Amino acid sequence: MSQREQWSSKLGFILAAAGSAIGLGAIWKFPYTAGQNGGGAFFLIFILFTLLLGLPLLLAEFSIGRTAQSNAVDSYRRIAPNSKWHWVGILGMVTSFILLSFYSVVGGWIVAYLYKAVTGGMNGLTSEQYGELFGATISNPGLSIFVQFIFILMTILVVARGVQNGIERASKIMMPALFLLFIILVIRAVTLDGAMEGISFLLQPDFSKVTSQTILEAMGQSFFTLSVGVSVMVTYSSYLPKNQSLPRSAISIVAMNIFIVLLAGLAVFPAVFSFGLEPGAGPVLLFNVLPTVFDQLPFGMLFFIAFLVLFLFAALTSAFSMLEIIVSVIAKGDQARRKKWSWIIGLAIFVCGIPSALSYGVLSDFLLFGKTVFDLADYAVSNVLLPIGSLLIALFIPIKMKKSALYEELKRGSRLKKGLFELWYFLIKFVAPLLIIAVMLDVLGVI
Ligand code: PFF
Repeated sequence: MSQREQWSSKLGFILAAAGSAIGLGAIWKFPYTAGQNGGGAFFLIFILFTLLLGLPLLLAEFSIGRTAQSNAVDSYRRIAPNSKWHWVGILGMVTSFILLSFYSVVGGWIVAYLYKAVTGGMNGLTSEQYGELFGATISNPGLSIFVQFIFILMTILVVARGVQNGIERASKIMMPALFLLFIILVIRAVTLDGAMEGISFLLQPDFSKVTSQTILEAMGQSFFTLSVGVSVMVTYSSYLPKNQSLPRSAISIVAMNIFIVLLAGLAVFPAVFSFGLEPGAGPVLLFNVLPTVFDQLPFGMLFFIAFLVLFLFAALTSAFSMLEIIVSVIAKGDQARRKKWSWIIGLAIFVCGIPSALSYGVLSDFLLFGKTVFDLADYAVSNVLLPIGSLLIALFIPIKMKKSALYEELKRGSRLKKGLFELWYFLIKFVAPLLIIAVMLDVLGVI
């Protein structure tokens, strides 16, 4: 086996890990979930969970990955041989599989919009007509499956080529460009007539709307946007040179994520209120709202196309990480196996994702637990699988890793103060498990 691949630069790792984190979660899922959960209070609870649980967990995954230097399953095996802990990695693979099966559907929606925008099919529509166009697009079975396939195909092609060549290079230009475009968009959105109502919807917490379900969803959202609980970050940090500061990387990823969530909220809600749209519209929210904001910009269609390209890229870099974690376990560093299994797993995910792709059309009445297949997969991943994965990772650290070795690992390449390390350890050992269990029991009505 050749030497283990590594990221070619520090920036490469941060961008790839940030690429995994920043994606549909911040840009698509946050606005619609916040919209359904009353806005400001949800946002605030989400930030609290991100700082109290997400950031420590991200750091936990980084330290497992870099200590073990292996894939999502073998990392646990190396640190805790002859135990069942590697099932945490297997659970991550299953989570990733289900996640990509519906994530690719939304990725496909972006592809479809991009095609429509480029071919002029979206010129001169009213805000209502955008909604109708989008509804017609996602309810068309052949089209939904086709664009989902295109999205998965792009993911497979990159993951099959391997970590370094595939993922790292493009992130360096696309991510900053996405930020920039978002800022332009926000400036336009917050200066719309009636924007203030949307801004206060997002930034003024109304705790009367908070239920145990809101809290669970805010927690799930914080795991989802940071890609924690799946061991994706274990996998990514295993490719990382030893001299890179893990705390600094984690903090910058969290900061970027919160920033982009805020930008997404500030782009969407002012427009929702200004155009009299429905904040609780669900997964279609972003796709109904954004074209109307771009419409208000000079050269709006050009900006919209640029946005869709960058948005697609952000979704793809997250999708790469989902397929990567599964493939890296099976390929074990062998290039030929990586190629083959990227195709096999990617196509299997595509097939399993077809019912999700049809959930807004022919399968819209097919409900399991009162949800469409798409909604159920989305709900199960964010609110069940990610919390369970995160809980297990939080338990793994104090049970199976030496505190002194963890401190050494986190101190490499950084000037981490002992006090901060102790704070992190406390959050992982006590706060994370208790909080996750409490939130889950609360929603089950047990406490
Ligand atoms: N963080 C990604 C997003 O916000 O779009 C989604 C994600 C990717 C979640 C990878 C989990 C994961 F393992």
